[in-house]
Amino acid sequence: MAKVTVQFTCADCGTTSGRWLGKCPGCGAFGTLVEELHGSAAELASARPAQPVPIGEVSADEAERISTGVSELDRVLGGGIVPASLVLVGGEPGVGKSTLLLTALGAIARSGRRALLVTGEESAAQVSLRAARLGGAEAVEILAETDLDVVCATLESLQPEVCVIDSVQTLHASALGSAPGSVAQVREAAGRLLRVAKESGVATVLVGHVTKDGAVAGPRVLEHLVDCVLQFEGDRYHEHRILRATKNRFGSTNELGVFEMTAAGLVGVPDPSELFGTTHPGEVGAAVACALEGTRPILLEVQALVAPTDLAMPRRVGTGVDPKRMAMIVAVLGRHAGVALASADVFVNVAGGVRIEEPGADLAVALAIASAARGTPVREGLAAFGEIGLTGRLRQASQAERRLEECAKLGIALVVAPEGTTGRGSVRVTPAESLRVAIKAGLDPESAAEAAA
Ligand SMILES: Nc1ncnc2c1ncn2[C@@H]1O[C@H](COP(=O)(O)OP(=O)(O)OP(=O)(O)O)[C@@H](O)[C@H]1O
Ligand SMILES: [Mg+2]
Repeated sequence: MAKVTVQFTCADCGTTSGRWLGKCPGCGAFGTLVEELHGSAAELASARPAQPVPIGEVSADEAERISTGVSELDRVLGGGIVPASLVLVGGEPGVGKSTLLLTALGAIARSGRRALLVTGEESAAQVSLRAARLGGAEAVEILAETDLDVVCATLESLQPEVCVIDSVQTLHASALGSAPGSVAQVREAAGRLLRVAKESGVATVLVGHVTKDGAVAGPRVLEHLVDCVLQFEGDRYHEHRILRATKNRFGSTNELGVFEMTAAGLVGVPDPSELFGTTHPGEVGAAVACALEGTRPILLEVQALVAPTDLAMPRRVGTGVDPKRMAMIVAVLGRHAGVALASADVFVNVAGGVRIEEPGADLAVALAIASAARGTPVREGLAAFGEIGLTGRLRQASQAERRLEECAKLGIALVVAPEGTTGRGSVRVTPAESLRVAIKAGLDPESAAEAAA
């Protein structure tokens, strides 16, 4: 007879252990392991072997994606919501998750599909106030409910095409003793909703809270369970918001959506280069990067400050850039390009709260730092892209043509790029084989002569 196993699961990180431990071996938290039963004897005994079928025999008509009516959201999802999929949207409090999803539901309902909003955080009246402010969401059906059984039963009987659960942390299953928002509850809710989504064909969007360090709260299993994880980020004190996919089973995870928060809701920014890619002429320590985010090239202003320091370990602080990559760029600048930074603090910041993760932006970061260190502005109307190698040689960045097109669109006349990149249209390319050459080409020659004199 099959055995019922007892497992102990960490309430913070989901690590499981065969016996109880005072300290979680996964995350090091104390007293977080809780007992769980796995597999009831009756259930396991009745299991019968199933018959697999060859993939070729599975009928799969490419399901049509449901457009959310918000083009930036569609782009990040890979072209719209896939029917019967489960999407998790995470973001800090107040960043605009409810606003974005209500706007999307409104558009979906207007296109003649059945859209349901399950709200556990706000009352129906509060949501209706927001809907009145945003406009166009009158046809969305709303259910203020936190009981998981009721929500699942409603979804099964109503069968809406798209359903938003705001938020998954407020749902609770009465069968479980723990409080709403606990690991067991969140996992149960996600598992049940996944089953309903696949069986009843309801595309479900879960809103999830994030912890202080930015991860989606609750167990990591939640991220494995869903088809798509979207992160909504941005400074609460600036009006720009960035939406990116950290996981997507049906599309690229590199796509980026840019929004602006206005009184009438979130408005997509179709051309973020115009917003983030402009520097002031003659400003020391600012360079324009042409980075590629998914399929979209985007111009971003990179700012740097180099300040003398007495610290034994000078500071390298980067906002919007990977700290390891930045440390590497600073080291290569010192070793191969003659920009000594050993006794200086270096600060780097990317405009608009955007994070660049792509190595193609290396050269612009290096250019901004070199400009700040030498007190010489970068040439006017110049952008840069290219990956920096540890030997000081520049490596070609992917899809150079698309980047150059974007530069031409924004009126950039001159681009410094790795050797082998050829110019197109109105953009003149200065090819550079090494970082040293690229910096010489990128900094304003007149100011450089002045600074040297
Ligand atoms: N009248 C208004 N005019 C402009 N912006 C507004 C207005 N009302 C709300 N906002 C913006 O909407 C944001 C809140 O959006 P929303 O409620 O969608 O966030 P949320 O991510 O769902 O938050 P929570 O996690 O608390 O549910 C606020 O930060 C504010 O910037
Ligand atoms: Mg909300």
